[in-house]
Amino acid sequence: MAPYHHLLAHMPIALLSVAFLIILLRFFSAGELARRLDSVLLYALVLGIGVGLLTLVVGMLIWPIDAATTSPMGRNKILISGWMLACWVAVLFLRWRGGESVWDSAPRYAMLGFGALGGILLATTGTLGGHLLGSPSGLTALFRKIGWDVYHTYYAPSWVLAVLAAVGVAGLVIGLLGTRKTAS
Ligand code: HEM
Repeated sequence: MAPYHHLLAHMPIALLSVAFLIILLRFFSAGELARRLDSVLLYALVLGIGVGLLTLVVGMLIWPIDAATTSPMGRNKILISGWMLACWVAVLFLRWRGGESVWDSAPRYAMLGFGALGGILLATTGTLGGHLLGSPSGLTALFRKIGWDVYHTYYAPSWVLAVLAAVGVAGLVIGLLGTRKTAS
């Protein structure tokens, strides 16, 4: 399965990197080039996320499932690539539901935020792949400096999970209140 994983991995990396560049350009510019590139953003996102999911599934099949889910590097790869795709799904949802007007209102900041986070997690997924292959990049030295050694399972304290759950619930409540206000 490894050769197919290598083959597939280039597509989400290329398509989602292009998506990030389009987001960056459209965030800062309303010019014709930015608008035209924005009109293909949805296609790049759908293809990037779709092939990304396939890459993730094929990645899980390279090693026996026990090895992938119990080794720190395997777990980190699953965790980071899952978060990365979740981020890009949020961008897709925002752009799909918001249409072109997403760039004229507050959600444009969410587009930039999720796009940037998705881009960072995409680079992290790629660099973890390099480690698994035996060719680590310098990016991991930066991670070590900010406190994460990629050879240990990524750990978040329980209170961080509680804060994340609270932010999620608050987001849902704000969304529901906003929908009711618009309806009335
Ligand atoms: C969208 C998700 C993913 C992307 C974009 C991705 C990307 C990559 C990249 C760029 C490489 C290095 C390949 C090369 O240099 O040619 C790699 C290698 C690898 N990845 Fe992933 N990966 C993803 C998900 C996963 C998952 C979920 C696993 C499961 C643990 C995984 C396991 C591996 C392994 C074991 C290797 C080394 C393969 C070998 O030894 O030849 N990947 N990946």
